[in-house]
Amino acid sequence: MAQWEPFAFDAEGTSAIVHGENLNVLEGLPDEAFSLVYLDPPFNTGRDQVRRTTRSVPAATGEGDRVGFAGRSYETIMGSLLRYEDSFADYLGFLEPRLMHARRVLATHGTLYVHLDYREVHYVKVLLDALFGRRCFLNEIIWAYDFGGRTAKRWPAKHDTILVYVKDPTAYHFNSADVDREPYMAPGLVGPVKAARGKLPTDVWWHTIVSPTGKEKTGYPTQKPAGVLRRIVTASSRPGDWVLDFFAGSGTTGAVSEQLGRKFVCVDSNPEAVDVMRRRLPDTAVFSAS
Ligand SMILES: C[S@@+](CC[C@H](N)C(=O)[O-])C[C@H]1O[C@@H](n2cnc3c(N)ncnc32)[C@H](O)[C@@H]1O
Repeated sequence: MAQWEPFAFDAEGTSAIVHGENLNVLEGLPDEAFSLVYLDPPFNTGRDQVRRTTRSVPAATGEGDRVGFAGRSYETIMGSLLRYEDSFADYLGFLEPRLMHARRVLATHGTLYVHLDYREVHYVKVLLDALFGRRCFLNEIIWAYDFGGRTAKRWPAKHDTILVYVKDPTAYHFNSADVDREPYMAPGLVGPVKAARGKLPTDVWWHTIVSPTGKEKTGYPTQKPAGVLRRIVTASSRPGDWVLDFFAGSGTTGAVSEQLGRKFVCVDSNPEAVDVMRRRLPDTAVFSAS
């Protein structure tokens, strides 16, 4: 496997799968190279992260520590969180430097999507508000699915949340015109032309999970559906743009980017993920960053 060396992310460059610790890879990536960063981080990052109880908060350029809830700063809030929830202290300590790099490598017109479950999303929202500034928060997408058992003891959790931040709220790229449309709930009320065209998706996306028996399945346990990524890549990048996923898993972001004519860098530290990506993206060069 060739050694990973970052290159110019321009029209000459070709897509890459990188095996390695993503923080090492991120440190070598140039500023503003990517139009889209999609991340689906694992929650169980292990207990080997160094816990920090005081932290300096990197601010969006020229904005200072502007995240104040009733006069409380981000640092105050994070301090309280960290005191009562050790596992989230570890988690946020793991994510923070990686999300800082995600922001740094985004182009001015770029967008970050962070895919989270209902236990993590609120903690990460506060962290992202601090890193990007609240005015850069674009959307909270709810991906709703219907699969598996239903507990009778509470409302069964059947959704993930995808937080969306833009680098610059005055300059971001968003093309909803090319996104797949949805059937109207009451097509009889809108007339045949509109009914045939369907409606623009909202921030709630109903989409099945990757079927355990379907063609899309790679065998990688946390694989996300290509249909969800297709909307994201279509809306928030243009053909020829560079897309980054540094928690790439089975390479869904890479597969969709390839189908849609985008270039991509997919990073994962798990050799099994790299094997799956190699099979899924046989024409893509594979590098080692260790
Ligand atoms: C939830 S999975 C991503 C699944 C992916 N979205 C898909 O559709 O297959 C998260 C991935 O992050 C990888 N990962 C976790 N920590 C990492 C690190 N520090 N550097 C690189 N990859 C990491 C794991 O190996 C895992 O494959």
